[in-house]
Parts: sequence; structure tokens; C-alpha cells
Amino acid sequence: MGSFDKEIERRRTFAIISHPDAGKTTLTEKFLLYGGQINLAGSVKGKATARHAVSDWMEIEKERGISVTSSVLQFDYDGYCINILDTPGHQDFSEDTYRTLMAADSAVMVIDGAKGVEPQTRKLFKVCGMRGIPIFTFINKMDRDANDTFDLLDEIEKELGIATCPVNWPIGSGKNFKGVYSRFEKAVYTYEDTKKGTKEGETTVISIDDKDAVLKLIGDDAYSKLNDEIELLDGASADFDIEEVRKGKLTPVFFGSALTNFGVEVFLQNFLKMATTPLPRVSLGEEINPLSDEFSAFVFKIQANMNKAHRDRIAFMRICSGKFEADKEVKHVQGNKVMRLSQPQQIMADERKILSEAYAGDIIGVFDPGVFSIGDTVCAPKANITYEGIPTFAPEHFARVRQIDTMKRKQFIKGVSQIAQEGAIQIFQELNSGMEEIIVGVVGVLQFDVLKYRLENEYNVEIRLEPLPYEYIRWIDNKDIDVTKLTGTSDMKKVTDLKGRPLLLFVNSWSIQMTLDRNKGLMLSEFAKN
Ligand code: G4P
Repeated sequence: MGSFDKEIERRRTFAIISHPDAGKTTLTEKFLLYGGQINLAGSVKGKATARHAVSDWMEIEKERGISVTSSVLQFDYDGYCINILDTPGHQDFSEDTYRTLMAADSAVMVIDGAKGVEPQTRKLFKVCGMRGIPIFTFINKMDRDANDTFDLLDEIEKELGIATCPVNWPIGSGKNFKGVYSRFEKAVYTYEDTKKGTKEGETTVISIDDKDAVLKLIGDDAYSKLNDEIELLDGASADFDIEEVRKGKLTPVFFGSALTNFGVEVFLQNFLKMATTPLPRVSLGEEINPLSDEFSAFVFKIQANMNKAHRDRIAFMRICSGKFEADKEVKHVQGNKVMRLSQPQQIMADERKILSEAYAGDIIGVFDPGVFSIGDTVCAPKANITYEGIPTFAPEHFARVRQIDTMKRKQFIKGVSQIAQEGAIQIFQELNSGMEEIIVGVVGVLQFDVLKYRLENEYNVEIRLEPLPYEYIRWIDNKDIDVTKLTGTSDMKKVTDLKGRPLLLFVNSWSIQMTLDRNKGLMLSEFAKN
């Protein structure tokens, strides 16, 4: 074990997931407030006032007022060292969002109390589910009329397939929002509205046994409703079981209002107690103890030209074990090379801080001279560690891409290939056509705009994108198969990926089945098997 166990054990690394507008940015902002990172709530982002989130990087983000890329925020609170991985909140997100979840140890799911589970929550939740990481639910905007609390919990259980355990329970909502009842403390936290932008309102904590005080505060009706609900809840909801929470099978649920800063600190405090210390990752079939003396990390994201002032490429790594020291050599496993990581930095939005050390659970960005790929392992020179790769998520949108000026062929190929290497897009070629015809596949359609913008700005190449109707992609698992002989449906397209693996594109799921029926023994999968 390392001499730095305490440093690692105080780390909590998590991602916040939500559907756009549920309040992820506002909640993050309030967390930062408690960490002393900003003085006044509202200074992180205000769409309406054209101020930008600290995580906005690219011009395109500024133009649209959305976050395209994910960033990392680190701060101390109550002895903990918190790493928040920001995932883009826009509807059109990219594989980056998914990959970011690979670097987190738990997730905070923000749900709008009036909207319940929304499409993007569902998608992101699925990825968290794949990893079995703990998920904490914050039901937000209780200062506005919200859906019935039992219905909200029911929806989470049914739609997402996870048991819920309310840690607190709202007393009314909207104009009648009186606060929350803390089930563990058996006390009422009273709500008082605050002006937008101010730190927090007055909250009083009253024991539920102090009937007169509670009655006075919330009135007869709310009081008897609360008592009924508590009774019902104690009989019906899942018991709190930290083991189940850690396996991602039970989500503790909290209610509050990020905007008025109600219930946020209580949530943060409970969350920090319940969330895990940095989780071990699997290398060569074995879990590597995060407290191990040997440093190890994996690359989960690569980004080029993040900042016009620094035309560079940054590889983001999640440290999985030990301590990183900037002056020590490390081994890049896939490149089979011992090196010193160049300009290791912690990146908080566009501010960069050069780091001399970091610990398991932390995220560092290092200058990448073009040697790293997503999923690569970096470790102490003598360690024998190779982390499992990161799955390639199936793109859902496709377009044919052509450069407008044919003289710029070289820059075009370079740009498209580099952006694909970063993993922002996937590129495919028509079978046996070389780079003549390039088909781009993305997880979120916004990536098409990002591609166009970046090719123009970084590579000086204008392109035309022609949308293609495909929605499903399947890799062919059979080895030694003559793909040209496959008989599919008329809408099917045969292509190869960057690594030369054959795959098929389909317009609808029905065609997939038809193709399987027509080609006996054909094996298709949704993920590329590396
Ligand atoms: P996101 O990152 O999940 O997309 O959501 P964000 O925090 O940007 O919040 C979306 C909108 O919802 C914002 O309003 C924000 O002020 C509001 N909001 C967040 N939390 C609460 C809450 O607890 N109660 C209420 N009533 N509103 C909340 P906006 O008008 O779109 O932007 P802004 O001009 O206020 O920044």
C-alpha cells in the first residue's frame, strides 16, 4: 500500500448526468460555491446573459451557449477532494459523453421534478448501468410545481430499472413548497425562497417530534399529508442498503431546488458519505488496487486544438492507482515506450494549472504528441498493467462527406483522420473504395457541425455533408468471411472502419433480421470488438 492512502481515500470522482435544462449546470455551480471556488452563484453560466459555463471551450460552444466538450472540475470540501466530470448537457451529445462516464466512479442524476425521466437521462443512465456504478438522484426544481412524488419514484424504477430509496421527502412543491423531511434524521428542513444569485436562504431544522413547531410551519393539511406519506413510504420503499447503492442497484433520492440553493448542501454531504472512494479498474482480468504503490492511468478522451492560443492536443487520463509524479518516467503500454508525460496539467475549463502530482481518482490532461489513443494505458515503467479498452459506441447518424475544393484533398484526409482518431467522429469507407468516399458516423448530430467547424477553422478545408438514412450499424464478427458475397436488403451498405474491419449499415432494424436470415451463420454485433 502507498504512503498516500489518505489522499486517495478522500477522493470522490463523479459525473453529473441529466437531460438538458434539468439543472445540471446550476447544481454544479452550487457545489463549486460550497467548495469556495466561486463567490456568487450565477457566475458560472447564464445562458440569457450570454455568460458562459466554465466548461465552455470552443468558439462553437460560445456561439450556441452550450457545452460541446466535457471538462473536469476539482475542489476540496469538508476534507474531501472532489472531481466533477462535466458531461455535455445538450441533446446532441457525442461519444465523449459516454467515455467520460467510463472515467467516473459514481453519477449524480439530476431530474426536473415537473418532467421526470427524459430521453437523455435514459441514454446516459444506460451507460452508467453498463458499469454498475452508484447513482444518486437529485430531483430538482421543487420550487416549481412538481409531479406527484410517488409517481416520480415509480417512473425512475420502471423506466430505468433501479430501486429507489428517498433520503428526504418533499413537503409540497411550487408555491406550496415548504421544505423536505429528512427520513434518517426525522426532521423537517424548512424552505425559504431566496433571490436568484444569492447564496442561500434561511433553513431551519425542526424535529418531527416537535409537532407544534412543524404544524405551525407547514399547516394542518401539509402535516397530515406528510404523516400519511411517511407511513406509506416506510412500508413501501426499499430499505436503505449501502451495498446495493454501491452496486448501482439502489439509488438514494434527494429533493431540492438548485436555483434557490435548497437541499444542495445536504445532498452533497450525504452523497460524499455514500459515494465510493476511487474504484479499481480491470487489467488483464485482474482488478488493480487504487491504493497500490504503482502508478497507472488510462486515456479516456483526446482533444486537439482546445485553445487557439495553444495549438495542441491533450490526452485526458484517469489515474487508476498510485500517485502520479510529474518528474518520474512512465510507460505508455500500447506504444511500448518509456517517457515523461509532458506538461501534465489539471484543466479547469480553459484555465490550466501545471501539476506536479496527482492521485488515483484524479483526471489529468497531458500534452499528446500524437502517440496516444483512447483506451491506452500509462503506468509505472516496471508495472505490468494493461487496462481493458473503452467500448466504441455505435453511431446513430451518418453522412457522406466531401471537400468542396478538391485541391485540398491532403488537408481534408488529415483533418478527418485526426478528428476521428480523437474519437469525436467515426469514419467509414465504402468497401474497396479507399478514401474516395468517406462516410462519417456520429452519436449525436451536433458532431457534424463540430466536424465542419473544426475542418474549416483548424485545417482550412470546407466540406459538404450529405445526410444518409442509416440508423443502425453492425460489425461483422465472423472471421474469414467474404463480405462481397453477403446478400442483404437493398437498403444495406457495406463499409469498413478505420481499422479495416467490415461492417454493415442499415436503415431499419427489420433489415438486420432479414440479412441474418439470408446469410446463415452470419454474426453481427453492436460494438466493435477490439
Ligand atoms: P442544464 O445545465 O441541465 O441544462 O440546466 P441549467 O442548470 O442551465 O438550468 C436550466 C434552467 O433551469 C435555467 O434557467 C436555470 O436557472 C433553471 N433552474 C435550475 N435549477 C432550478 C431550480 O431549482 N428551480 C427553478 N425554478 N429553476 C431552476 P434559464 O432561464 O434557462 O437560464 P438562466 O437565464 O436562469 O441561466
